[in-house]
Amino acid sequence: MARLAQRIIQLTPSLTLAVTAQAAQLRAAGVDVCGLGAGEPDFDTPDFIKQAAKDALDRGETKYGPVGGHPELRQAIAQMVGRSCTPAQVLVTVGGKQSLYNLMMTLLDPGDEVIIPSPYWVSYPEMVRLAEGRAVLVPTTRATEYKITPAQLQAHITPQTRLVVLNSPGNPTGMVYTHSELTALAQVIVDHDLLVLSDEIYDQLLYDGATFTSISSLGDEIWQRTIISSGFSKSYAMTGWRLGYLVAPPDIIQGAAGLQSHSTSNVATFVQRGGLAALTDPRTPAIVQTMRRAFEERRSLVCDLLDTIPGLAYLRPQGAFYVWIDIASTGLDSTTFCQKLLAQERVACVPGIAFGADDHIRISYATDPQTLQTALGRLGNFMTSLKK
Ligand SMILES: Cc1ncc(COP(=O)(O)O)c(C=O)c1O
Repeated sequence: MARLAQRIIQLTPSLTLAVTAQAAQLRAAGVDVCGLGAGEPDFDTPDFIKQAAKDALDRGETKYGPVGGHPELRQAIAQMVGRSCTPAQVLVTVGGKQSLYNLMMTLLDPGDEVIIPSPYWVSYPEMVRLAEGRAVLVPTTRATEYKITPAQLQAHITPQTRLVVLNSPGNPTGMVYTHSELTALAQVIVDHDLLVLSDEIYDQLLYDGATFTSISSLGDEIWQRTIISSGFSKSYAMTGWRLGYLVAPPDIIQGAAGLQSHSTSNVATFVQRGGLAALTDPRTPAIVQTMRRAFEERRSLVCDLLDTIPGLAYLRPQGAFYVWIDIASTGLDSTTFCQKLLAQERVACVPGIAFGADDHIRISYATDPQTLQTALGRLGNFMTSLKK
C-alpha cells in the first residue's frame, strides 16, 4: 500500500456525500429507501439554462477559457453583488466548494485561526485543516437559534484570528441571521480588523417572509472585509454543473486565481454559459420562485409531521432545505441513530456528528412530498420502536 500524506490521512471524507452514495447503492439493489441525505434539489435544471450550454457547445466554445471565468459571467456576478463590485473581484469556480477551498488555501498560513460557528457545514473545518489553519469551533445552541452572538465571537478572537465564517441561510440548521444580528457581528469584525467569509449559497431559499441580508451590504468598512462564496447548485438546481464563485478584494481574487491556474484552470466554458443564462435570462426569477415555493411547502409538511413524533425537537427552518433535529432524548449517538434508522426503516439521513453535534441529525426536504410523507411515517415508527 502506498504511504499517504498526513493531510489525507487526517482528512474525514464528506459524510453527506457518503450517505447519499449509500442510499443510491441500496436503491440500485432494489431496496425501497427514502433518501433525506442529499443537499440537492430534486428539480431538473431549467431548460433555458441547459439550452444556453448546448448552444455554446454548438458554437464551438470548447477551448480553454480565462482562468478566472468568462468576462461576461464575472461581469454579471459583479452586477448582482452590487456596491462597487467589479469583475476583478470575482472568481468563477468549480462549485461553491472550490471557491471556499481556494480561499482557505489563499488566505491561511500555518496556525492562522478561522472562527466557525457550530453546527457548521461539513467541509469548513476540513478545508481549514487542509490549508494548515486552525478551525476554532464556537458551539451555538437552540436558545440563540444556532446563531453566534457578538459576545461569543468576541470571546473567541485571538491575535491569530484571520477569518470568521458565516453561513446564512445555514446548513444544517436552516437558520437566517437578521439585519440587526449581522450589524452587531459586523461591528466586532470591523473593530478587530478581521475578514469575514459569508457563504451565501442559500440566499434565495427563504421562507415565512424572512429576508436575506448580506453582511457585505452593511457599510464600507465591512464590505472591504467581506468575502462572499456562492454558487448555482441550490437556487438554480445545478448541482451537477459544478459552478460557483468567490467575491473578494482584488488581491485575494488574484491569489485564488493563481492557485486555480495550477489546479483546475477555468470552469468548463459551456457550463459558464449556462450560469450566465441563469443570472441574466428574464425567465429565471419566476422559476426560482416556483422552486422556492415548493421547498417552503415541503418544509411545512415535514414540520407538521415532525410535530406528531414525540422525542424529537427542532426549530422551524426559515431557509435552505434542511431540518436540524435534536435526538438527545433517544440516548443514541447520531451515527448509531442513522444506522439503525436506515437498517430498520430504510430512511437515510445524515448524522449530526458530521456537522459538529452528535446529538442531532440532519434531514433534507429537497425531495418529493410523497417520499417525505413516507420517510416521516417511518421515522415515527422508528422512534416508537426505541421506546419498546
Ligand atoms: C453551506 C454550503 N456551502 C457550500 C456548498 C457547496 O456547494 P457546491 O459546491 O455544489 O456549489 C454547500 C453544498 O452543500 C453548502 O451546503
